[in-house]
Amino acid sequence: MDRIVSGYGAKKANSKLLPQSYEIKKIAPKEVVVEISHCGICYSDIHLIDNDWGISNYPFIPGHEIVGFVTQKGSQVKNLKIGQRVGIGWFSKVCEKCTYCKTDRDNMCASPEMTAVGRNGGFADYIKADKSVVYPIPEKLKSEHAAPLMCAGWTVHGAYRGYKVKPKDRVAVIGIGGLGHLAVQYGKAMGYHVTAVTSSSSKKTEAKKFGANVVVDYKNLSKLKNKFDFILVTAHADLDWTSLANTLDVDGNICFVGIPPSPISIHAFSLIMKRIKISGNPGGSRKMMKEMLKIAAEKNIKPIVEQFKFSDVNKAIKKVKENKIRYRAVLSRSI
Ligand SMILES: NC(=O)c1ccc[n+]([C@@H]2O[C@H](COP(=O)([O-])OP(=O)(O)OC[C@H]3O[C@@H](n4cnc5c(N)ncnc54)[C@H](OP(=O)(O)O)[C@@H]3O)[C@@H](O)[C@H]2O)c1
Ligand SMILES: [Zn+2]
Ligand SMILES: [Zn+2]
Repeated sequence: MDRIVSGYGAKKANSKLLPQSYEIKKIAPKEVVVEISHCGICYSDIHLIDNDWGISNYPFIPGHEIVGFVTQKGSQVKNLKIGQRVGIGWFSKVCEKCTYCKTDRDNMCASPEMTAVGRNGGFADYIKADKSVVYPIPEKLKSEHAAPLMCAGWTVHGAYRGYKVKPKDRVAVIGIGGLGHLAVQYGKAMGYHVTAVTSSSSKKTEAKKFGANVVVDYKNLSKLKNKFDFILVTAHADLDWTSLANTLDVDGNICFVGIPPSPISIHAFSLIMKRIKISGNPGGSRKMMKEMLKIAAEKNIKPIVEQFKFSDVNKAIKKVKENKIRYRAVLSRSI
């Protein structure tokens, strides 16, 4: 059955999103079509709209924190039912054949399909995706909370798990936005000693409520020395990386999930003396996605969301760009 999909897309870099439609033709045996009820706005959508990474193909519909209901499925989809509530994140398919897919590192799949790169994503009424990356949502989670977990939750939990951060490790989360406020909550759930680092004084009290043991103003961070084992950078701004690295203890790791505009510059001396590692992390594996959703349901992890109508997507994006959202903008069909 062919279906016309209506959404909001970018025609060129740095432009407002405009109504856009496309057709879903026949689906493949392993594909499903999902009617979208909610879609979070991740800052990666904004990087894609603005072509910050040089990988955007216009026109396209962004959106990769998707929750909705299965409305159609191919003949080989046995694990999902019509009407079932599911989520889709950054990937719309992984190959399931490469070395990485076969060793639970499918977030590094050699030939993945990304939900909103070279195809259309979730700021729309329907989407199709391969069953390999369509996840049932635990009943306990509301859809508006599950949506941000599909990328923001997946990424921060994936970074902690990917680098084997241990209970009691001293973790600093830099930037308390969509990813950061979940990094604090997951950090607490995993038993870490969490320091939330924010440039917004208005977020300090809430960061404590998310479970931070300590909250530090970004301006005061350089006063700290040898304090952390793991720094998770979720900010997308150029910060003082050498000062940040100096806050790590011996064998510490500064891990980037946020993507600042400029190359990371750190003086080698700061790395050598304490065997500091600089690293990055792309989301999490499919196994970690399931684990992350389970932890959210069991430990009552909830993104704080501000919901918008899909037709107000530009209003929501403007607020995200101004760092005024507390803490994740979610497009919703039910408001
Ligand atoms: N690696 C991955 O797999 C992956 C997955 C998803 C997203 N990302 C990337 O992660 C980044 C964050 O995404 P997000 O959706 O969480 O964005 P967001 O909601 O806008 O949060 C980013 C936070 O960074 C801090 N920040 C922003 N500008 C700053 C500045 N000039 N100085 C200091 N701090 C600043 C702010 O926190 P405070 O107000 O607390 O300072 C802000 O809330 C983006 O680059 C996105 O592309 C990566
Ligand atoms: Zn693969
Ligand atoms: Zn994202």
